[in-house]
This record gives sequence, structure tokens and C-alpha cells, in this order.
Amino acid sequence: MTTPAHVAIIMDGNGRWAKARGLPRVAGHRAGVEALRNAVRAAGDLGISWLTVYAFSSENWSRPKSEVTDLMGLLKLFIRRDLAELHNAGVRVRVIGDRVTLQPDIRNLLEEAESLTAGNTSMNLVIAFNYGGRDEIARAARRIAEAVERGELSSNDVTAEFLDEQLDTAGMPDPDLVIRTSGEIRLSNFLPWQSAYSELVFLPCFWPDFTREHLAEAVREYTGRERRFGGLAERDIAL
Ligand code: FPP
Repeated sequence: MTTPAHVAIIMDGNGRWAKARGLPRVAGHRAGVEALRNAVRAAGDLGISWLTVYAFSSENWSRPKSEVTDLMGLLKLFIRRDLAELHNAGVRVRVIGDRVTLQPDIRNLLEEAESLTAGNTSMNLVIAFNYGGRDEIARAARRIAEAVERGELSSNDVTAEFLDEQLDTAGMPDPDLVIRTSGEIRLSNFLPWQSAYSELVFLPCFWPDFTREHLAEAVREYTGRERRFGGLAERDIAL
């Protein structure tokens, strides 16, 4: 199999990385941002066109207020510091997740990143921020129900393809490969609809230790797999 067009990453293990070093959790998140920078460069070098990263989940609000503030601050810093470089490298930035409940300054920064880079075509970086898959599907279902109520849509129009186009990821390809670091083996509400046929690779390293070699290793693992999307392998079709 060829290089995956879309790789999605659950960047997990920042807290444990920090704890193992006797550092505060925020130090793990800071190191995580550095690992993210390297991952974007490495993805570009490997010819990956879409990279989606889980930066803040709808469930992360339940963390201590100080940690939530730290994560919001790191997103702002990341956009302020890295947007110019991303733009120069031809990276288009997109954001998925619920923006309505975010602070206006964060919302403005996210919109600025999207509009500045809207014409870029070398690679797409999708930041999942205040994102949860169930929330994404519920928001789409609500919008569809409202359109039906207004008489603009018939319930028969609601096919899987139609629903797909109502999600935050409308117009984006499904992830071919989902990677999770830190040894946890679950998806934690990350792209549940879109990852229905994705290959999953779980790596034991904590996110701050993730290097381009880890990405290359996950891609190698992916290229060795056989994807059938519910069909048959070619060699079995004639049998
Ligand atoms: C999981 O580690 C990571 C997160 C909840 C946040 C991911 C954030 C970053 C990589 C840095 C921020 C990047 C941006 C662009 C805002 P964890 O805290 O759950 O680690 P643990 O499971 O070891 O406690």
C-alpha cells in the first residue's frame, strides 16, 4: 500500500512524560508542542497531504482550570509563533471542533489561521480543538433536524454521504491511518465516524518523545497492511 494521504494523531502522554521527569504537567504540554512542530515537518517530508491532530477534546474541560488555561495559552502561542512558518511552507490550517463555546480571542486566532492559509496547497494541518466525535455528530444532527423542521430537507435526503458533508470534516478525506502514542489502545471520541475504515497504530512512546522516525515507523506498518473496506482481497475475488 502507498503512503497514507491522511494521518490523524492522538497526541497522548504529555502528563506522564512530565511526571517521569518530576516536572509540572504544563512542561509536558510545552514539549508536546515541540513534538507537534516536528511532526508537521516530518509529515510534509513523507508526502502526507493531511495531518489531523487532537489538541483539545470536548472532555478536556474537566481537567483542573489551570491546565485548561495552559492548553489554551499553548494553542495561542502555537498559532502566533508558527503561523508564519506554516504559511511560508504552504500549509493550509483548518480547525475542527465546536468554536461557539471558545473564548473570542481564541476563535479569532483560529479564524485568522484558516483565512491566512486558505489558498495553500502543499499540505493540510487540521487542528481538532474543543473536538469530540459524538458532539460533532450531535451538532450535525441538530442542524439537519432544524432544516427538516423548516421544510428545507426531507428525511429521505439524510444518507451517510449527506451526513458526512454536514460534519466539521466536510470536504476532507477520511484518515487512512490513526496513530495514538503513550500505549493507550482506544480512540477516545476522536473521529469515530471518519475512522470507520482507518488503520490504527498504537505506539508506546509518550507524545513529547515522538520523532520523525516514529512517524516513518507507523507509515511503514500501515503500508504493510491490507485494506479491504468490507470487500475482499483482490487475490480472493476469483475464488
Ligand atoms: C494528552 O496528554 C494531550 C493533551 C490533552 C493535549 C495535547 C496537546 C499538545 C500536544 C500540546 C498543545 C498543542 C496545541 C496546538 C494546543 P495527557 O495530558 O492526557 O497526558 P497523560 O495521559 O500522560 O496525562
